[in-house]
Amino acid sequence: MRSVVLLGAAALLAGCHAEPPPKPLTPQQSAALKPANAKLAGLYEQACKSCHTVADTGAPLTGDRTKWDPRWAKGEEALLNSAVQGFRGMPAGGQCFACTPDDYRGLIRFMAGRDK
Ligand code: HEC
Repeated sequence: MRSVVLLGAAALLAGCHAEPPPKPLTPQQSAALKPANAKLAGLYEQACKSCHTVADTGAPLTGDRTKWDPRWAKGEEALLNSAVQGFRGMPAGGQCFACTPDDYRGLIRFMAGRDK
């Protein structure tokens, strides 16, 4: 009997650590986010932000996991390829002329809400 109670308590504790389901962000909430890294923040402001915080562009809003999770599921390398080579409405390079592959990786993690 006692072990049943303990198991129940363990299940409850485990439940507390489960990630809450993602919520959509407004463009205002999205625009308030910026990368912690200063170099990435500069690149982001000059390039990605102009589309990825504006709903009308069709770009997934930065930080909105409801939009990014299905894309994240493709894998980081696939997203890196999309950023570098372009993907439908996403222009090749994302208008960043100074970005290295590592910069793109960092920007994508940040934008996809995976930099925590
Ligand atoms: C001119 C507007 C524009 C700019 C600037 C832009 N993007 Fe995008 N991006 C888009 C649009 C639109 C999509 C959605 C494409 C689609 O799925 O139709 C997108 C999608 C993406 C995707 C998802 C691709 C996939 O395979 O699902 C990634 C990753 C991405 N952008 C990264 C970036 C990065 C990093 C930057 C800055 C260096 C950037 N974007 C700048 C418009 C832009």
